[in-house]
Amino acid sequence: MAGTALPTDDELAAAGLRLAVEEGASGGVARITLARPERHNAMTDRTWTALAHVGHALPASVRIVVIDGEGPSFSSGIDTAMFAPGNEDSALNRFIRDPAGRAELDAAIAGYQEGFLWLRRPDIVSVAAVHGHAIGAGFQLALACDLRILSDDADLCMKEPALGLVPDLTGTKPLVDIVGVHRALELCLTTRTVGAEEARELRLAELVVPRDQLAGAVDDLVTALLETPRDAAAATKELLLGAPGRTLAEQAAAERAAQVERFAAWAAAAGRG
Ligand code: CAA
Repeated sequence: MAGTALPTDDELAAAGLRLAVEEGASGGVARITLARPERHNAMTDRTWTALAHVGHALPASVRIVVIDGEGPSFSSGIDTAMFAPGNEDSALNRFIRDPAGRAELDAAIAGYQEGFLWLRRPDIVSVAAVHGHAIGAGFQLALACDLRILSDDADLCMKEPALGLVPDLTGTKPLVDIVGVHRALELCLTTRTVGAEEARELRLAELVVPRDQLAGAVDDLVTALLETPRDAAAATKELLLGAPGRTLAEQAAAERAAQVERFAAWAAAAGRG
C-alpha cells in the first residue's frame, strides 16, 4: 500500500479515528486521535485496518506519531458489539458461526495486527498519550507505541483473559519486555487494573502528569524528539530495539556497523562519499 493516499476524513470517522499531519522544519508529526468518545473510544476491526492504512500511507516526512483519545478515556478496547450475535461484518462472529474458517480468522487477525506493528518502525517514534481507561486492545495500542505518557487518572487493564480470550494485538511482547514474564502473567491472569503510579513504577509509563498537563507534556516530548537528527534517531532506535535479542558481542558489532554507516553519511554530506 506504500505510496497510496491516506484514508479520507470520512473513512477515518467510520473507523472512529481522526488524523492530523503537521509538517515542520524538523519533520512531520502525525496525530491520530481515537474519536468515539461516547463509547470510550471502543475500537472495531475497521479501526485497526484504518490504523494499518495510515501506517502504510503516512508521508515520508513524518517522524513522530502521537496517539491520543478524545473524551473520558484513551480506549475501552474492542467494541463488544463485534461479538454481538447477528453482527455479520465481524470476522470473529463469522468464525464462531463457522469454526472451519481458521485460516480466514488467522488472516483477519494478522490484518488487525498490522494496525499496531507499524508503530515500531525505526523511521518514526510513536507516543501514546493515555488518560482514563486503556483496556484490552486499548492497553495493547499503548504498548505498541515506543513511549507512553500517562495522566494521573489513567487505568490500564489487560482484560482479554477475563473474556475467555488472549491478548492478540501484539501487546504480549512489549508487556513482557517491559515488566518481565512473571509480572506480565500476574497482570494478565488476574486482569487487574494498574493505576498510573503503579504503571510508572512498572515502567509502563515514561512519565505521569496531571490530567490537564497531558497535552503539554506530549508537546514537550515531541519537541525534544524532533531536535535529534532523523537518521541518527532511526539508527539508534533500530539498535536499541534489536538489543534484547543479541549477545553483548553481537550488539557491539551492531553498534560498529551502524556507526560506520553514520560516518559514511557524514562523508557523503561533505562530498567525499
Ligand atoms: N464496546 C462497546 N461499547 C462500550 C465499550 C466497549 N468496549 N466500552 C464502553 N462502551 C459503551 C457503554 O456500553 C456505554 O454505552 P451506553 O451509553 O449506550 O450505555 C458507554 O460506552 C459509556 O460506558 P459506561 O456507561 O460503561 O461508562 P463507565 O464510565 O461506567 O465505564 C468502562 C467505562 C470502564 C470503559 C466500561 O464501559 C467497560 O468496562 N467497558 C467494557 C470494556 C471491555 O471489556 N473491553 C473489551 C476488552 S478486551 C479487548 O479489547 C481485546 C480483545 O481482543 C477481546
